[in-house]
Amino acid sequence: MILVTGGAGFIGANFVLDWLAGNEEPVVNLDKLTYAGNLDTLKSLADDARHVFVRGDIGDRELVSRLLAEHQPRAVINFAAESHVDRSIHGPDDFIQTNVVGTFNLLESVRAYWTGLPGGEKAAFRFLHVSTDEVYGTLAATDLPFAETHPYEPNSPYSASKAASDHLVRAWHHTYGLPVLTTNCSNNYGPYHFPEKLIPLVILNALAGKTLPVYGDGQQIRDWLYVKDHCAAIRRVLAAGKPGETYNVGGWNEKANLDVVNTICALLDELQPRADGQSYATQISFVADRPGHDRRYAIDARKLESELGWKPAETFESGIRKTVAWYLANQDWVQNVTSGAYREWLSTQYGV
Ligand code: NAD
Ligand code: DAU
Repeated sequence: MILVTGGAGFIGANFVLDWLAGNEEPVVNLDKLTYAGNLDTLKSLADDARHVFVRGDIGDRELVSRLLAEHQPRAVINFAAESHVDRSIHGPDDFIQTNVVGTFNLLESVRAYWTGLPGGEKAAFRFLHVSTDEVYGTLAATDLPFAETHPYEPNSPYSASKAASDHLVRAWHHTYGLPVLTTNCSNNYGPYHFPEKLIPLVILNALAGKTLPVYGDGQQIRDWLYVKDHCAAIRRVLAAGKPGETYNVGGWNEKANLDVVNTICALLDELQPRADGQSYATQISFVADRPGHDRRYAIDARKLESELGWKPAETFESGIRKTVAWYLANQDWVQNVTSGAYREWLSTQYGV
């Protein structure tokens, strides 16, 4: 079996659902269930013996060591993290604790387990660390996209904490020989995305008749990757990646934020028009910029494509249409997340 951490979050849960849809190999899912963890996303697995959910912290060495000894996974895939840049600006402590100290503790638990494995299992074991393109810093308009060799220049507390975790993972390979794989991917979007992030926030605010907050001039560029393409890339890296290597994952979909927001508005105008006949785009509101806001990210995914044969299946146009349709069709899930912690966060961030 495999051990997945952070498997109740956006990408981790998509990964677990996709894994078990195409594979009989069981999953132990370790998640602390912070505000971003949502068991509702995994409810279709409630009676599935292949999915063992454990609430806990990646930094809890006793718990992680016990899980490893009990379940004897052939791989650990680490999605667990604090993931939201704006939250890291308001309060970096949890980011250092989980992303840096937590990853360190997880690596130590895994190293002890891996050291004790018999020869064949030891050679086959993998620790796959899921990271971000934000560790590379920001690009100017004419710069080449980030390749794996790009220097680390993180600019936010979030990206600095992820960069630190990547360095730890790298060091555990070089010093101890732990067979690690690291993936650095661009902005994911798709089903089950918590509505603090741009795309789900805009969809849900639009439908609720609220303003659509665009930071600064809205010309910051992100590369967008459909979450199921990302999950396929992780499966491919786990199966065929070379220990010690890093693989960039991207969708070849560079878009300015304002264009993303306008695209969502146009899709909603088509799929669920406003009663007054006006466009959802009239709800757009330019608000104060994010401090230290990175201007542009772009990913060169050619290493993963040429060495491991992965390619994204979705274009931005096909993926965003599926995503908007998913939110329209899954109002129960939406109601579940738009309560409690999420409302408190909106008032901290937007004063509403
Ligand atoms: P998310 O915030 O939606 O989910 C994170 C999950 O980790 C939650 O279920 C949370 O409960 C759990 N968690 C947090 N702290 C934990 C701890 N100490 N122990 C155990 N579980 C803990 O994040 P996501 O968007 O699914 O991102 C998953 C990973 O992918 C993260 O490492 C993130 O840095 C990385 N990443 C995300 C994106 C993106 O666009 N969302 C892009 C690149 C990389
Ligand atoms: O690049 C990968 C990263 O993508 C991941 O490592 C992070 O975990 C993930 O959260 C995401 O980070 P971003 O900061 O790029 O995502 P976010 O959805 O928060 O913002 C996307 C862009 O939209 C960014 O330029 C900020 C802008 N934005 C965001 C929000 C929430 C707005 O203009 N308005 C908003 O209300």
